[in-house]
Amino acid sequence: MGVTIAIANQKGGVGKTTTAVNLATALADLGHKVLVVDADPQASATAAVGLDAFQFEQDKATLFHVLFQQTPIAKAIVHVDAARIDLLPSGISLAEGEMRIRNEAGGDMVLKEALQDVRDLYDFILIDTPPNLGPMTANGLVAAQRVLIPVKTAFLDMLGIPLLLETVTKLQRRLNPSLKVVGILPTLHDPKLKVNRQVLDELQEKLGGMTRIFPPVHRATGFDQASYNGEVALKVLPLDHPVNAYRTVAKELAHEA
Ligand SMILES: Nc1ncnc2c1ncn2[C@@H]1O[C@H](COP(=O)(O)OP(=O)(O)OP(=O)(O)O)[C@@H](O)[C@H]1O
Ligand SMILES: [Mg+2]
Repeated sequence: MGVTIAIANQKGGVGKTTTAVNLATALADLGHKVLVVDADPQASATAAVGLDAFQFEQDKATLFHVLFQQTPIAKAIVHVDAARIDLLPSGISLAEGEMRIRNEAGGDMVLKEALQDVRDLYDFILIDTPPNLGPMTANGLVAAQRVLIPVKTAFLDMLGIPLLLETVTKLQRRLNPSLKVVGILPTLHDPKLKVNRQVLDELQEKLGGMTRIFPPVHRATGFDQASYNGEVALKVLPLDHPVNAYRTVAKELAHEA
């Protein structure tokens, strides 16, 4: 059985989606079979690989339809040729899904249940979660064995980490004893900025003892343009571009799997 990793941080814009898509592509480049689950109603991962979330809504082939409308998961999963990864698309309907999860007994388990049918087909399943500690993030953390936490190395971004770690501990205790923090991934790091270096040092000092801090992904141009073009940055940017930091993370995760 493969490894399921939730990419989570309730703070917005810290690189969760960028991490999910590029790390998945890096793992696929190493020869692994990878599924990205877009568990965010914003459908950013779906859009970032050049897919049209609106079309999947029309076709009733999004995560919401898998969770609540009896669409078989195998029917909703699409192959992204350029990146050689599979993706389970999201769409705005997942916002309604979040309300249903709140009102359903065992609502935090629906994603885990839905993934049972495909777990054996993949070496890695990466779940891109939304910027909150709501029902889809909880579902991601229940469905996963590992959580990877991207953290932007800026002051305000660091402040939410204790709350996230507390949430992980609660879910470990209550619903998912096998959940482990696989590490913190510093993102959007600009080593020229003193405060970025200070935050990186502080992450290392305060959390380095309890979890691994991966080498940072530096802030660079090219990420946004790639998404706009519907291309995965790792596939289109040169080998000396900072996006290749995701290859290091992929190698470490693959080594441990
Ligand atoms: N290393 C980087 N250098 C420059 N830009 C980056 C980098 N990583 C991500 N970005 C850009 O930062 C923005 C936020 O990234 P992303 O969407 O991955 O964050 P997120 O945590 O998923 O956001 P949300 O919380 O809204 O889901 C995007 O425009 C993305 O292209
Ligand atoms: Mg995102």
